[in-house]
Amino acid sequence: MVGTGGDWRVTFRPDIPSPARIYDYLLGGKDNYPADREAAEEILTAAPDARTSALENRAFMRRAVRYLAAEAGIRQFIDIGTGLPTQGNVHEMAQIYAPEARVVYVDNDPVVLAHDRSMLHGVANTAIIEQELRRPARILADGELAKLIDFEEPAGLLLGAIMHFIADADDPAGLITRLLDGLAPGSYLVLSHGTADSRP
Ligand SMILES: C[S@@+](CC[C@H](N)C(=O)[O-])C[C@H]1O[C@@H](n2cnc3c(N)ncnc32)[C@H](O)[C@@H]1O
Repeated sequence: MVGTGGDWRVTFRPDIPSPARIYDYLLGGKDNYPADREAAEEILTAAPDARTSALENRAFMRRAVRYLAAEAGIRQFIDIGTGLPTQGNVHEMAQIYAPEARVVYVDNDPVVLAHDRSMLHGVANTAIIEQELRRPARILADGELAKLIDFEEPAGLLLGAIMHFIADADDPAGLITRLLDGLAPGSYLVLSHGTADSRP
């Protein structure tokens, strides 16, 4: 997997598989390289249902955003580990039901950042910021995020298929707690996580 440099920023290495690009390949996307496709095929050999899991995860995220925007009255979203653009991105789903919905995307992968910036160019009420889930205080203090997120108003915090990349040593539960502590009461957490439950 893509490694981190001296600081927390992920370096661009097309020759080393990245989670975002493997996931893109599993979803049928085109923003991936031979190393990602090889890794994905190895994953599919070991876990043939990985593609179904990826597609079902996306469907879950779309349903969750629809619920928050259409039924729970949520008008602002923070999507950490957003991934490469695909069908039914968070702002597209949310703005169907609440055109004024604001969405801040967060990722640490330079390929994701480049593609998402291109997708979001000129799209009102959206932003993509380069931040690292293991630095929750920096995410909450980000100036671009503060332009769209009102910390006095409930928000939807989305952590779709990202927590399984966080090692126990990095205190995944503590990271989530610190993020939620920064949000207003009435906020929602949407979380999906890889599991081996179907293959005991
Ligand atoms: C499998 S994709 C999930 C995409 C989307 N959330 C979904 O559920 O469809 C995981 C994303 O998390 C990002 N990611 C992984 N570790 C991260 C970290 N520590 N900080 C920020 N983003 C991270 C990857 O770059 C990738 O875009």
